[in-house]
Amino acid sequence: MKKVVLTGIKPTGIPHIGNYFGAIKPAIELSKNAEFDAFYFIADYHALNFIKDASELQSLTREIACTWLACGLDPEKVVFYQQSDIPEVTELAWILNNVTPKGLMNRAHAYKSAVDKAVNAGDDPDAYVNMGLFNYPILMAADILIMNSKLVPVGQDQKQHIEMARDIAKAFNKTYKNSFVIPEELIGKDVGTILGLDGRKMSKSYANTIPLFAPEEKLKKLIMSIKTDSSLPTEPKPLDSTVFNLFKLFASEVEIDAERRKYNAGLSWAEAKSDLFNIMNTKIKPMREKYEYYKSNYAEVEKLLAKGAARAREVAKETVARAREAVGIE
Ligand code: TRP
Repeated sequence: MKKVVLTGIKPTGIPHIGNYFGAIKPAIELSKNAEFDAFYFIADYHALNFIKDASELQSLTREIACTWLACGLDPEKVVFYQQSDIPEVTELAWILNNVTPKGLMNRAHAYKSAVDKAVNAGDDPDAYVNMGLFNYPILMAADILIMNSKLVPVGQDQKQHIEMARDIAKAFNKTYKNSFVIPEELIGKDVGTILGLDGRKMSKSYANTIPLFAPEEKLKKLIMSIKTDSSLPTEPKPLDSTVFNLFKLFASEVEIDAERRKYNAGLSWAEAKSDLFNIMNTKIKPMREKYEYYKSNYAEVEKLLAKGAARAREVAKETVARAREAVGIE
C-alpha cells in the first residue's frame, strides 16, 4: 500500500505569492511522486472560526478550490475534496475529544496567543476564545487520522498541530484496540522569507500581500507600489531588496545572474520593477488563465469536488467504523 500524504488549506484569505511558494507548489510537486497517495482538501470547517459571514466563506472556499486546480493539482491523481463533505471527519473529531487531555489543548500556540492578547488588554483570559478555536487541533487530528495519513506537508507554524495529532492518535491506540497510523509533519525546505509590498514578511495580517491571481493590471500596480530605497536611477541596487527577493522566486539561475549584474551595474527601480512584473506575469499567466476558467465554470469544480468527496468518504467510513467498533459504539 502506498503512503498517504495529506494536507488542507483553510479558506480564510485570498491565496498570495507566499502561500503559493510556501505551501501550494511543494504540495503539488509531492502529489506527483508515485510513492504516495495524495489527499488534498479545503478545510472549510476550520475557517468557521475566522470567517463569520456566509457569503464570504463560500467565496473564499471557491477561491481555494480554483487555486488548487489552477496551480496544477490533478484531480485524477489527487483525492481532492471539501472537508465539510466528509461528515465522518466531525464524527471522528467527537470521538477523539474523549481521549484528548485538556492540558494538551491548553498548550496550543493559537489558543495561548488569544489568551495573551486578552490578558494584555485587561480582559478575561478566555474573552477571545470559543470552543471552535480551542478544539481546532482535534478537528485537524481527525482530518489527518481519518485518511490514514503518514505524511502531512505543512509550514513551520503547523508543526505543533501535527505533534498533537500524533499524541491524540497514540492516546487512542493505547486506550482502545485501534491502530491509527501515526502521522509525521513534512516541513518544506525553507523557501526563505517571502517579502511583501512593505518589505516585511508577506502575510495577510500585514495587508502587504500580492494575490497570486491578481489581474495583470492590478499585479503591475502592486509591483510598482513595492517600497524601495531612494537611491538614484543609475546607482547599484541592493540584492536584499524586496524587488530582487521576489524576482528570485520566479527566475531561473541564469535569469537571476543576468538580473544581478543589472542590479550591480545600476538600474532604476522602475526598470527593476518592470523586470519583476515581466517574469512574474510570464510564470503566473498560464495558471491565472486556468484559475479564471474555473472561477467562471465553477460547476465543473463542484463536480470534481463531489467525485473527490466520494473517494475520500470510502476511506473515512472505514476508519470511523474501526474507531466506533474500538470504543463500543455500533
Ligand atoms: N490548520 C491548517 C492551517 O491553518 C489547515 C489544516 C486543517 C490542515 N486541517 C489540516 C493542514 C490537516 C494539514 C492537515 O494551515
